[in-house]
Amino acid sequence: MTKKLYIKTYGCQMNVYDSLRMADVMAPLGYSASDTVEDADLVILNTCHIREKAEDKVYSDLGRILKEKDKKKAKGEKMLIAVGGCVGQAEGAEIIHRAPYVDMVLGPQTYHQLPEMVTRAIRDGGGVVELEFPTVQKFDLLPESNIAQGASAFLSVQEGCDKFCSFCVVPYTRGVEYSRKVSAVMDEAKRLVGQGAVEITLLGQNVNAYHGENKGGTATLADLIAQLANINGLERIRYTTSHPRDMSDDLIAIHGSEPKLMPFLHLPVQSGSDEILKRMNRKHTAELYFDIIARLRTSRPDIAFSSDFIVGFPGESDKDFEDTMTLVRQVQFAQAYSFKYSQRPGTPAAVDDRQIEEKVKDERLQRLQTLLREQQTAYNASGVGKTMSVLLDRDGKHEGQLLGKSPYMQSVHVQGAEPYRGQLVDVKMTGAFLNSLSGEIVENTVNMRKAS
Ligand code: SAH
Ligand code: SF4
Ligand code: F3S
Repeated sequence: MTKKLYIKTYGCQMNVYDSLRMADVMAPLGYSASDTVEDADLVILNTCHIREKAEDKVYSDLGRILKEKDKKKAKGEKMLIAVGGCVGQAEGAEIIHRAPYVDMVLGPQTYHQLPEMVTRAIRDGGGVVELEFPTVQKFDLLPESNIAQGASAFLSVQEGCDKFCSFCVVPYTRGVEYSRKVSAVMDEAKRLVGQGAVEITLLGQNVNAYHGENKGGTATLADLIAQLANINGLERIRYTTSHPRDMSDDLIAIHGSEPKLMPFLHLPVQSGSDEILKRMNRKHTAELYFDIIARLRTSRPDIAFSSDFIVGFPGESDKDFEDTMTLVRQVQFAQAYSFKYSQRPGTPAAVDDRQIEEKVKDERLQRLQTLLREQQTAYNASGVGKTMSVLLDRDGKHEGQLLGKSPYMQSVHVQGAEPYRGQLVDVKMTGAFLNSLSGEIVENTVNMRKAS
């Protein structure tokens, strides 16, 4: 008999990928994916610990899931609840103290143990916590990925982080840096393309620090991209997230030489103030960031940039914040994410006594976001009239509309494009908004290929 598995994913793309892999792990036990909590036999929350709000969300969702669990119980049925991901890793058994109806807690490195945990939870009536990082890497213990991701697919190539930025929980929740072997990545990429992927986004918390084993030697991320580009049917390659310190010469160069590598880079800078960057332990200056941007623009003149910013880091003065605004004006971003600094337990910046008032954080965030929105709107507007290849992989908001990404990572919606679902098509941009562009298909272009 098949059982229903409901997974809710929070946080970054690595969690999106991990959720697919958890579904892979549970499939042989008869679990199939379900979109609703109500009829689920197993609910997994794949959580994020990056900011306080992300964590709060998990507990409020758990409250709602408990109601469904109770309803099932009243009918004599069982629902198992697992908390996985970064909150699982960071809080461990504490979660079961706070929410005793949670049956299992696991971390990002232990999800290959899920089947065995489920067996134990059924036998012992819950209380299963599995957080030990095994010496063997989980990737070697996972079954082959089997769930088709569609035209645009994620592939984790690197895990963990050794950077220890003073605000960040990731090194504690994801563990030390680890790169998958080139052969394993190539096999998985070929499988994804066989299942219809036209675009692959290589994932890692520090993806450009990738150094995977390759025939006795070591491959850099640029080496890996070069090999992936040889796969027939794979038309687009992206990677995220990168650290400025690891933006090596060969990676900058391949942006200019490999047409399958998309002209878009998410390169978090966090702050434009060297003083703050130093105290964030970012290991780069604003100058180094400008230099990388300039070299990338030389290598690939049309490259578009995105970034992450934190405002209100402990001790951030008005002047420090102005330095961030100056950096934004100088670089000109196509899009960006910005956050108020959030004190995370166990990180050095959380115990800094120069915490910034909420009101000041709010004001700075608003000013920064206004500027970033202006740049994003201007960037999108500059696309109107141009023809770009778009990978139409999803339903749009409106009836008969498909949505896809331009090479520059802009969302593009196209009306009446159903015959081209899952394909790369040339689209002439007709309108621009803050978060998207609209366009029309250019018929009879060389860019139309069957996706699979
Ligand atoms: N590995 C990536 C992403 C880390 S998490 C990187 O190195 O950039 C994604 C973003 O969340 C970070 O870039 C940062 O801007 C933000 N972030 C991390 N910790 C935070 C905190 N304590 N408060 C606010 N934002 C935070
Ligand atoms: Fe966190 Fe810094 Fe590592 Fe990014 S590089 S995951 S911000 S510690
Ligand atoms: Fe969140 Fe963990 Fe990703 S803390 S951002 S889910 S690595």
